[in-house]
Amino acid sequence: MVQPSLCFLGGLLGLFLMAPIVVASTPASMCTPLKTLNDSLSHRRRYMKHNFPINYSIRVHHEEIFKLSNISKMKLKVEGLDELVLQRLWFQVNQGVLKKIIRVLPERHPSRPYTAELERRFRDAEGVFVHSHPAEVFQQELPETIQDIWDQLTEEPDRVPESSWRFASPKSLVDNLCHTMYCLFWECFSSTEASQDYCEVSHSKKGRKTLNQKVEMEPTEPTEW
Ligand SMILES: *[C@@H]1O[C@H](CO)[C@@H](O)[C@H](O)[C@H]1NC(C)=O
Ligand SMILES: *[C@@H]1O[C@H](CO)[C@@H](O)[C@H](O)[C@H]1NC(C)=O
Ligand SMILES: *[C@@H]1O[C@H](CO)[C@@H](O)[C@H](O)[C@H]1NC(C)=O
Repeated sequence: MVQPSLCFLGGLLGLFLMAPIVVASTPASMCTPLKTLNDSLSHRRRYMKHNFPINYSIRVHHEEIFKLSNISKMKLKVEGLDELVLQRLWFQVNQGVLKKIIRVLPERHPSRPYTAELERRFRDAEGVFVHSHPAEVFQQELPETIQDIWDQLTEEPDRVPESSWRFASPKSLVDNLCHTMYCLFWECFSSTEASQDYCEVSHSKKGRKTLNQKVEMEPTEPTEW
């Protein structure tokens, strides 16, 4: 007689225990550095596009093209994928992206100070991210799909096959950084408590989907220029 209700209580308790983990994946301390980063990102059109030659693109790992659509694909593929794992991946990917953009900028390029500041703010956010989680979190084994991506990203460049490289404009890469940041750290950017809005590939983009897919295969993304 007692057991079923105990089970029920246990179930409820389980739900309560689980809920905070699922909902609050972003510590509040992350929001200050991310908003600072967001302030810089608002000038990206000028510094990542106008200051570059038309159709300028840089060579990146194909895994460094990390968009909203990748996030939804990964969530579908890996059951119960922890948001924290995606956040770690976001830092790993974009650290490489920013480094690559800086590397192509000559010392006196007008976008250099901006990009250096962007990278500094990004690293500040990463520092807070690392410190706001227990160290064990970063030693946890990653789901296989994610580990594979991680391994590719950290592979020695000369061991990466030619076919694995892509070309992308600095602006499109930084756009990806920005859009995926809103999705993965939505608690810092949403006033409505809904991550869905930020994680959804926007309607205007859906309309251009076939074009985008075609463009992805090409060296540059003319729609972004
Ligand atoms: C992030 O930056 C955009 C402008 O690029 C701004 O509209 C938005 O309010 C900012 N969000 C936060 C939470 O600061
Ligand atoms: C930029 O790329 C588009 C599409 O590939 C091409 O039509 C255009 O001529 C290019 N512009 C320049 C200046 O190279
Ligand atoms: C995102 O998707 C594109 C195209 O499907 C793919 O080339 C890229 O490797 C994916 N990025 C990640 C981080 O998985």
